[in-house]
Formats: sequence, C-alpha cells, structure tokens
Amino acid sequence: MVAAAPEQVEYIPLERVPRHVAIIMDGNGRWAKARGLPRTEGHRHGTENLRRILKACVKFKVEILTIYAFSTENWSRPRTEVQMLMRILEAVIDRELNELHESGVQLRHIGELDGISQGLQKKIRKAMEVTKDNRRLILNIAFNYGGRNEIVRAVQHIVRDRIPEEQITEQLISSYLYTSDLPDPDLIIRTSGELRVSNFLIWQGAYSELYSTPTYWPDFNEDELRKALNEYGTRKRRFGKTDEQIASE
Ligand code: IPE
Ligand code: IPE
Ligand code: MG
Repeated sequence: MVAAAPEQVEYIPLERVPRHVAIIMDGNGRWAKARGLPRTEGHRHGTENLRRILKACVKFKVEILTIYAFSTENWSRPRTEVQMLMRILEAVIDRELNELHESGVQLRHIGELDGISQGLQKKIRKAMEVTKDNRRLILNIAFNYGGRNEIVRAVQHIVRDRIPEEQITEQLISSYLYTSDLPDPDLIIRTSGELRVSNFLIWQGAYSELYSTPTYWPDFNEDELRKALNEYGTRKRRFGKTDEQIASE
C-alpha cells in the first residue's frame, strides 16, 4: 500500500507530535492591508484565529502552546496600535476565560507585567489563578515579552540571590526564566514568511525546529498547523550527534 501524503494524515502519530509548539503570530497588518482594511482589523481576525489554533492543538495533543502576542519592541509602534493590542488582550481574557477554563486550558503569561496597565495586570493574574490546575493544554501568552529582557532579568535575580559562580550552569539559568518548569519548544512556527526570531525564546529555542510559512496569521488554520506538525515529524533532531549515533540509540 502506498503511504498517504503527509497532508492527508488526519491524526499525527503521538510520538511525532511536538510537546511544545511556539508560534510567532505575524502578518496581521499585511493581511489587513491586502484587503484595504485598517491594521486593527488584522489584529481582530488574528485573535479570532487563535481559537481555531487552540482547538487544533488540543485535537493534535500538543501539550504546550506558546504564542508571541506583543514583544518588548512592539512598544515602538504608533500609540494607538499599542493601545489597541492591549485592549485586544483584555477583551480576549474577558470573553474567552470561561470557555478556556472549561476546555481545560491553563493560561500563563510570560514577559514583564510592569509596563502593562494595572487593570490588565489584574486580569492576567486572575486568569492564571483561575486556570492554574487545568491540565489539557498550557497556553503561554508572551506579552510584553523579549528574550533578551528575560535573560537580563534572570541574571539580576541570580545576582540578587547571591548564587556562587561555580553553581551557574545552563540548568540554573533555565530555572530563572519564565518557562522554568516547561520543556523547551520543540517547534517554532513563524507565519507571514519572515525568517527571523525577533527576540522570541532566544535561550529556550537553541535547539527548536524552525518552520516558516508565507501564510499570514489570520489565515493560518488547522490544515496549516497540520502541515507544520507533519513537517516537524519528518525532521531529524540530532542535538549535535551524527546520524549513525542516532540510529544506534
Ligand atoms: C503580528 O502582526 C501581530 C503583532 C506583532 C502584535 P503584525 O502587526 O506584525 O503584522 P505585519 O507584520 O505588520 O503584517
Ligand atoms: C514579532 O512580530 C512579534 C510578535 C509577533 C508579537 P513583529 O512583526 O513585531 O516582528 P518584526 O518587527 O517584523 O521583527
Ligand atoms: Mg509583523
């Protein structure tokens, strides 16, 4: 029998599913521009798309989904757009928290809370508290997140804790990051065709598989995700070893 083409595989064999998928949700502005709409419409459609992708992740049995929603560099955008992005996160929490909770999603925030309005901080904290015991999927929202900022913050905490030099190891540094209790992302997806990481999970992504698609984020649907996961399933992760070593393991 001829094996099905990867695109036709409905369910991905569990051992081939990445445990932790991270997505740089990019291209909302270009999606809107292509339709003669304001950028905010792109963000709105992008947010709606998140529901679909969350459902698909649950279906494919991804355990952790980390999404890049607002970078430390995004503060440089026009004030009105920044405000809109803040309002969108607030609206998502208001509107979706119950459903997320009921479907077993544990919501977490990674990034700096400082700099975000008090009201939004409160909502983020509440959403994390309410969903903290959920186990079906961990949704990490990277908001006001920057990888360099995360490392600087970790170093500051390490110094504050007076950790002696000989105890500074990779594991120790990892334990001071926002993702301290989570495995590193297996797969980082970027939509909209850009080939850069834009300060996303720069420590944790050291050995992540990268996947880029020209599709803009609002159009990135379950089929697109399946394609990315199938491609991940064909990758050889060597972690520095040779193919022969991997084969004999
Ligand atoms: C991604 O879409 C969303 C955020 C960065 C908040 P963009 O807003 O970057 O869309 P493009 O890159 O301008 O198309
Ligand atoms: C990365 O997208 C940040 C998010 C998706 C939140 P950007 O659109 O901000 O990245 P650059 O500026 O093109 O590198
Ligand atoms: Mg962009």
